[in-house]
Amino acid sequence: MKRFAIKGFGAAREVFEEIEANPRVVDASHVRIAIKTFAVNPYDVAFRQGKMSQSIEFPYVLGKDGAGIVTEVGIGVPELKVGDEVIFHALTGSYGEEIVVPGNKVVLKPAEMSFAEAAGLVTPGLTAYNLVTHLLGEAAGEVVAVQGASGAVGSLVVQLLKANGKTVIGTASKRNEELVRNLGVDHFAAYDQVDPGKVFADQADTVIDATKGSRTSESGMKLLKAGGTYIALNDLPTKRTKAGNYVHFGPSRSYQDQEAFEALTALYKAGKLKLTIAEILPFELTSVITAHEKIEGHPNAGKLIIQKEQ
Ligand SMILES: NC(=O)c1ccc[n+]([C@@H]2O[C@H](COP(=O)([O-])OP(=O)(O)OC[C@H]3O[C@@H](n4cnc5c(N)ncnc54)[C@H](OP(=O)(O)O)[C@@H]3O)[C@@H](O)[C@H]2O)c1
Repeated sequence: MKRFAIKGFGAAREVFEEIEANPRVVDASHVRIAIKTFAVNPYDVAFRQGKMSQSIEFPYVLGKDGAGIVTEVGIGVPELKVGDEVIFHALTGSYGEEIVVPGNKVVLKPAEMSFAEAAGLVTPGLTAYNLVTHLLGEAAGEVVAVQGASGAVGSLVVQLLKANGKTVIGTASKRNEELVRNLGVDHFAAYDQVDPGKVFADQADTVIDATKGSRTSESGMKLLKAGGTYIALNDLPTKRTKAGNYVHFGPSRSYQDQEAFEALTALYKAGKLKLTIAEILPFELTSVITAHEKIEGHPNAGKLIIQKEQ
């Protein structure tokens, strides 16, 4: 079984290698999936660069997000069968031909969703859903500003907030204005042309910084109403210029993937969730390296997906 692994932390073209791995045994609670697509996330890039300070053994196979076809099912997973087209959320190891994952981390892929969209939905979708539904809920207030509204997470946060009837201010670069407006934002500001914090000063009950590496805290705090809620997916601002409730969002064991997947796929089937794919690359080591290098720069909006042709 072919997998794409890192042999250490460092530059993508120096550490990625193709390895041949032995298939794992499937126990009662797990399923085996032949992977059709996997997504590359900013998290994978930071991990490969050695920024996540994890203690691991090499070679190590990255990747949490993917979609494929079930090839073996543990006896304790009666809801799935061989041949099902599924979406999965793994702890790690989706950069390859096959994966064995717990049954509760797998959901049926809607027939109308492509395998590329399915892989691209996973981490951004779970993040957006848990943030909007569990962290915020009704505490979001009426007006929410989403910075990084063109991003994988930000674009889904915008759509979930609109589905909940919120007024949404979106910020992104000028080149992504049309994409963000098409997601349904009520107001837009291009951060590379104006300061959104000045344009929409003191208007947001909640500000969500979904930019890569939390780059917009100064303008975000200007957007915030005094006493509002400020959420960052990465670092919170160290120098706080406005009184408010400052919260870091991160994964939690109390969030159930099945619940989020069901809500997200239902919205997709109802035509209320658009998933943006930037590029689909072939199932090759060079594609993995290319995807990592693109994410290190300032890539076009949308997910980078690696797809295996059968
Ligand atoms: N805490 C968690 O649980 C969690 C989960 C998922 C992701 N994350 C993190 O959240 C961040 C976003 O992830 P993603 O997958 O959505 O990434 P993405 O698709 O690459 O989106 C990045 C966003 O950042 C914006 N951006 C890039 N450079 C910027 C700058 N200099 N100023 C302002 N905005 C800028 C982009 O806007 P333009 O392209 O329009 O410029 C885009 O909207 C990443 O840092 C990721 O690691 C955290």
